[in-house]
Amino acid sequence: MRERRLRTDALPRHVAIIMDGNGRWAESRGLTRNEGHNAGLEAVREVVRSAHELGVRVLTLYAFSQENWNRPQGEVDALMRLLDRYVDSEVDEVDRNGIQIRAVGRLDEVPGAIRRKLDVAIERTRGNDEMVLVFALSYGGRQEIVDAVKKLVAEAESGKLDADAVDEKLVASCLYEPDLPDPDLLIRTGAEWRVSNFLLWQIAYSEIHVTNLMWPDFRKQHLVDAIIDYQQRERRFGQTSAQVRDSGEGEA
Ligand code: FPP
Repeated sequence: MRERRLRTDALPRHVAIIMDGNGRWAESRGLTRNEGHNAGLEAVREVVRSAHELGVRVLTLYAFSQENWNRPQGEVDALMRLLDRYVDSEVDEVDRNGIQIRAVGRLDEVPGAIRRKLDVAIERTRGNDEMVLVFALSYGGRQEIVDAVKKLVAEAESGKLDADAVDEKLVASCLYEPDLPDPDLLIRTGAEWRVSNFLLWQIAYSEIHVTNLMWPDFRKQHLVDAIIDYQQRERRFGQTSAQVRDSGEGEA
């Protein structure tokens, strides 16, 4: 029986979260979906603080997917306003805590005013190195891979790239934020077991933790629980258990 205690020497470097369940959280309380998203913002604030306190190096939050553009316009607008509100209310604290903000996705599709505000926050926090907070916004994993392929085709067409030179490293270098490590731990709230077009390339070997909690209820203790769960896993990366034990590298 392994200990159910957080080991600070084996933290996931990169935690990525699919924040699902705002709508169901609201509906079960007789509230509107947008009220559910508002409540979700509080969970975002707490999880950013908690990840930083725990020593996570990169936190990626799936704030708005490519597919979310198909939601009713009122809900799309409300989600964009929330992002705006998050930047307004949190950027001072985020900056004070040495957190660097980044964004991944087809950002040219995000309304100009919000994008400009985000750009200012990204620029302001560029030199911070305590933690990187990545908002996946207008984001789709397939679209990210398509965008990477386009860059490669353009290089090939200009004669600078030969097909034989294409390998995993080169493809990865064309993704949106290639310097970030792949997520070690992918958390999904809302009790659904799918990856919903999130970081498809990068989660090839991520450990997945699904919780029945709806996102607005997610708090520091739940992040700690997810990390403890991750720390019980044996990461084999395609090898056998015996190989991993011999190399001493298997445990999270
Ligand atoms: C999924 O819940 C959640 C979203 C589509 C958006 C996530 C947004 C937030 C947590 C709010 C604020 C975020 C930031 C980064 C400022 P859902 O609506 O699909 O829930 P359901 O499956 O219960 O309907």
